[in-house]
Amino acid sequence: MEKLQKIGDRIYWKCVNDRRKALFENMWPLPYGVSYNSYLIRDEKCALMDTVEAGSDRGYADWVDQVLEGRPLDYLVVHHMELDHSGEIVELLHRHPEMKIVGNQKTFKVLGAYFGCNDRLMEVKDGETLSLGHHTLKFVFTPWVHWPETMMSYDLTEGVLFTGDAFGMFGALDGGRFDDQVEFAPHYETEMRRYYSNIVGKYSAMVQKALEKLSGVEVATICPLHGLVWRHNPSQVIGLYDRWSRYEAEAGVTIIYASMYDNTARMADYIACGLADRGVRKIRVHDISKTHLSYLLNDLWLYRGVMLGSCAYNMQMFPLMENLTRELEHIGLKNRYLGLFGTFSWNGGGVKNLNAFSERIGWESVAAAAEIHGVPHAEKRASCDLLVESMAARLLQA
Ligand code: FEO
Repeated sequence: MEKLQKIGDRIYWKCVNDRRKALFENMWPLPYGVSYNSYLIRDEKCALMDTVEAGSDRGYADWVDQVLEGRPLDYLVVHHMELDHSGEIVELLHRHPEMKIVGNQKTFKVLGAYFGCNDRLMEVKDGETLSLGHHTLKFVFTPWVHWPETMMSYDLTEGVLFTGDAFGMFGALDGGRFDDQVEFAPHYETEMRRYYSNIVGKYSAMVQKALEKLSGVEVATICPLHGLVWRHNPSQVIGLYDRWSRYEAEAGVTIIYASMYDNTARMADYIACGLADRGVRKIRVHDISKTHLSYLLNDLWLYRGVMLGSCAYNMQMFPLMENLTRELEHIGLKNRYLGLFGTFSWNGGGVKNLNAFSERIGWESVAAAAEIHGVPHAEKRASCDLLVESMAARLLQA
C-alpha cells in the first residue's frame, strides 16, 4: 500500500515522475523528466480528475482502487485529451464499469477517435456544475489552452482549481510537491517558462481570455496536470501566466546566431561584449547549431531584446535559422526589439532573408542590419556598433 498524498480533506493526488521520457510530444527535450498529476475526490460520489501517461506508473490503477476503498468510481473528468493524461482511460473503463466520462463535445470527438469510447459519456457545458456531495465542481471551458477541448474544473467548496496543462511545467518533482516546499526559482520557474513558451505560448490570447474568465474566482489551490500544486501562493503563478501571455519581458537580450566559418559567431560575441559594456546585464548567446529550439524559445520569452545573426547558405538564411524564424512567426511572439546581423562569403542571402522576416514579424527594429563580407575585422564593425548602441539605448530607457 502506498502512502496517500492529500490536498485538503477529501482530495487525493497522484504525482507520477517520469524521468525516462526523453522528448515531450517527441520534440521537446526533458533533461529533468516530467511529471503527470491525477487527482481523485472521494466524496459521496467519487470523481477522478484526469489520468496519467499509459505505462508511466504500473501502480496507477491500483492507486485509484486504494483511494476508493471499495467505493464505485462515478466519474472521470477529462480536462484535456492529450495522451499524457488520457493514457489510462481504457484500463479504468474496464476496472470500473459504473464510471462515466465527463467532458465536452470536443473531448468526445477525440476520445472516440483514439479509444473508440462512444458510450458512458456525460457531456457538460461551460459553467455547468456537478455535485459530488460535499464538493461541487463547476466546469470552466478554456479552449485552446492549449488544445480546443481544454477545460478546467473549479471546486466551489474549497476553491481548488483543476487547470489541465495550464500552470504546468517540464521537469519531475525533486522531493517537494507543493509550492511552499521548494525554491521555485530558478529551476522550476525556468522549466515552467520553457513549458509555456514551447507548448502554450502560441495560444497566449486564449490564455488572456481564460485568465479574464477566472478573474472573479477565489482560487485557494491550483492543481495542474504537470508539476507543483500551488496551495500557498497561487497568485504567483497566475501572475506569471498573465505576464507571459501579455509578452512582457525583462531588459535583456537573446543573441542567436548561425555560423559556418565563425564569422557570424565573431559578430555575435562582439555584439554581446558591446551590450555588456553599455550596461546590459542579462545577455544570452546561442549557437543555433548547438541549442535546441526549446531553449531558444525559453530565452526569447524571457528577454525583450532579440539579436538574430545568420551567414548566407545557398543564398538563403542558414536552414536552422530559417526554421527558428518560421516558428517565431507561427507562434506569434510579440513586443520585442530586433537587431539583425550576418556575413557572407560568395553571394549574400542570410541578412536579406532576415530582413524579410523582420518585415513579416513586425517587431521594432532598433537599427539597420549589420552585414559583413568575410571576416569581421575591426574596421568593418561600425554597423555592429550602431546596432549595439541602439539596442542598449532602447532596453535601458524602457
Ligand atoms: Fe500535458 Fe497537453 O498535455
